[in-house]
Amino acid sequence: MHVYATPKLGVATSRKSHNFIGIKNHKASMSKSKIFWDNASKNYDKTEERFEYIHHKSRENTKKHLENSHVVLDYGCGTGTTSCEIADRVKEIHGIDISTKMIEISRGKAAAKNIENITFTEGDIFDEKLKRESFDRILAFNMLHTVTNPQNVVQRIGELLKPDGLFISVTPCLRDKMSFLVGAQIRLVQVLCRIGIIPVPIRRLKSSDLDDLIANGNFHSVDTEKIYKDASSYFVVAKKKSKT
Ligand SMILES: C[S@@+](CC[C@H](N)C(=O)[O-])C[C@H]1O[C@@H](n2cnc3c(N)ncnc32)[C@H](O)[C@@H]1O
Repeated sequence: MHVYATPKLGVATSRKSHNFIGIKNHKASMSKSKIFWDNASKNYDKTEERFEYIHHKSRENTKKHLENSHVVLDYGCGTGTTSCEIADRVKEIHGIDISTKMIEISRGKAAAKNIENITFTEGDIFDEKLKRESFDRILAFNMLHTVTNPQNVVQRIGELLKPDGLFISVTPCLRDKMSFLVGAQIRLVQVLCRIGIIPVPIRRLKSSDLDDLIANGNFHSVDTEKIYKDASSYFVVAKKKSKT
C-alpha cells in the first residue's frame, strides 16, 4: 500500500489551501516547535508516565476500531509507543512527527520489538507526499491542543482518510476537571508559553470545543469518552460525512 504520492502525480493540496498565515512565519514557528519537541524527546516517556491511565484507556478504546486490513497514520507519533502497541492489529502503520529525535526513538522502539509493519518518517500532516484517501484510520493523540490551526488539521485528515475511514483522537481538555497539582502545572506552562519559553501553542479546550472542531471539519462522532485521572482527556472517534 503506497501512502506517499509520487512527485509526478502530486497531491491537489497546496499550502495556500490550508490558510497558512505565510510560508515564512509558518516555517519559523515549525522550526521553533521542532527544537522544542526535539528537546522534550529524551524525557517524554518519563513525563507521560503519570498520565499512563489516560494513555492506556485511549489505546484500548482505539483497538476496538482496528482491523487487520487497515492502513493507519499516527500523526504526531511522538516516541512511537501507540504505534508499536497497535501494530499487531493492523496491516501497516505510518508514524509521522516533526521531531527528528522523536522519530529516532520511535524507530529504536520498533526495532527492539522486531515490528516490521511500521514506518516512522519525519514530517507534517500537510506534507504533499501523503496521498489523499489512503488511510483507513488516522490517529491524533495529544495533538489538537498544541497545533497552530487545529481546524486545518481536521480538514487535512478528512482529505487523507478513505471515504469510510475513521479519525481517532484523544485530546487533553485543560478547561475541564483536573487535580490541584495538574492545575498548578498547567498554570506554570501557560506562563512559560506567554513569555515564549514554550514556543508551541497549548490551547485550553473543553470537550465541547472538540465536538465543534469535529463537526466543523465535516465529521460526525461515532464514539466518545471523557477520560479522567487527575486530568481530563476527550477520546473521539469520528467518521467523515459523505458527500451529497
Ligand atoms: C504531545 S506530543 C504527543 C505524542 C504522542 N502522539 C502521544 O500521544 O504521546 C506531540 C507530538 O507532536 C509532534 N508535533 C508537533 N507539531 C507537529 C506537526 N505540525 N506535525 C507533526 N508532528 C508534530 C511533536 O514533535 C510531538 O512528538
